[in-house]
Amino acid sequence: MANFNTVAGCVLASALFAMVVGKVSNAVVHPQKLDKPALAVVDEAPTTQTASAAPVELPPIGPKLAGANVEAGKALFMKQCFTCHTTDKGGANKVGPNLWDIVGRKKASHAGFGYSSAMSAKGGDWSYEDIDHLVFKPTAYVRGTKMAFVGLAKEQERADVIAYLRTMAETPKPLP
Ligand code: HEC
Repeated sequence: MANFNTVAGCVLASALFAMVVGKVSNAVVHPQKLDKPALAVVDEAPTTQTASAAPVELPPIGPKLAGANVEAGKALFMKQCFTCHTTDKGGANKVGPNLWDIVGRKKASHAGFGYSSAMSAKGGDWSYEDIDHLVFKPTAYVRGTKMAFVGLAKEQERADVIAYLRTMAETPKPLP
């Protein structure tokens, strides 16, 4: 009997030991396992890493504008932006400011609209590229903006919308 207990104890002890070793080595090995896929994702798609506050690297939208579809951009604007923005001359400010002649317009400068302090602090004029970054992800481009819009991930859609916005001006700015 005593013999059996000793043997059983030994078996139990080794089983426990194996478990502990297993857990410990898991804890040691696991972080290394996580590192690899994380790096692989970054390598494959650097432009989709939008979680950080740093401005996202977007390929320039300028070259895409000449071939963009103004009509598609208008339709998209009516669906995605018009709830908050008008684009006609002298149009009303809604949740967001009127966007008549927005290309080249000074940021946060439309009369009668109460901009966020974040937008007011941004500075400069709305270039095609700046509009592209805003529309891609407003909260990433202007941290603290009150433009509560998720963003347009598709480059073609942004090109179309920007090409449409460009036409909403007395004299559309030259294409880059
Ligand atoms: C839910 C409402 C909402 C939607 C939808 C929305 N916006 Fe805005 N937008 C705003 C607000 C509010 C501001 C002002 C932001 C601030 O002051 O921080 C703004 C600001 C802007 C500005 C800068 C204007 C200026 O005078 O400096 C541009 C350009 C713009 N939006 C374009 C768009 C486009 C293009 C879309 C659609 C793809 C869109 N917005 C969708 C609410 C919206």
